[in-house]
Amino acid sequence: MDNDWMPYANEPEPPQGQLIPFITSPPQLCEEVIKLLGVTEKDKIIDVGCGDGRIVISAVESTHCKGVGIDINQDLINGCIKEMNEKNLNNSLHFQVDDFSRPDFDFYQCDCVCFYFVPRIIKMMKPKILEYLRADHSRRCVSIRFPIKNIIPTKVNEAMKLYYYDWQSKEGKYGTNEDDCLLPAF
Ligand SMILES: C[S@@+](CC[C@H](N)C(=O)[O-])C[C@H]1O[C@@H](n2cnc3c(N)ncnc32)[C@H](O)[C@@H]1O
Repeated sequence: MDNDWMPYANEPEPPQGQLIPFITSPPQLCEEVIKLLGVTEKDKIIDVGCGDGRIVISAVESTHCKGVGIDINQDLINGCIKEMNEKNLNNSLHFQVDDFSRPDFDFYQCDCVCFYFVPRIIKMMKPKILEYLRADHSRRCVSIRFPIKNIIPTKVNEAMKLYYYDWQSKEGKYGTNEDDCLLPAF
């Protein structure tokens, strides 16, 4: 996992507005995200900062759900669209350049949300994430690699560092106090 975390250090000049580097989740982790979220064919999943789109493509292929991938990086979105077309998944998937930090970002009204943010960005997005969850448990999200500070996840895959949140996730201390300095600036 740590080896997968590091290659971004070689990332060329990031696009303006890019708040997190491009790092891919390994295939096994993608499968686990989908499993933890309990994605079914009735769901719509969004990967916020989708990179090469692997999580939502995999979710659509394995569960026949709908999927949305947004990323600030036009080149990455072009690659996602190419793969979507090659796999004939354009009826189930939507990829778009977008900036999740815009004030009215609403997770495209999806049921399932996943993101691979760094702690500083999780902190920034925390109010939006908590506002997005619903009392009927219809909405849930998984944070990859870093937990949301001061919210106790409803489910955890500690080995893979996946943190699941829904309406039941309560305020409180969880885990270690990992902070921004874990990641070198880019
Ligand atoms: C750590 S990567 C995760 C990629 C993918 N979700 C995965 O797990 O394989 C984070 C992604 O967020 C994107 N990103 C960074 N800042 C963004 C922003 N402001 N709006 C949308 N996407 C952004 C990056 O381009 C990058 O692809």
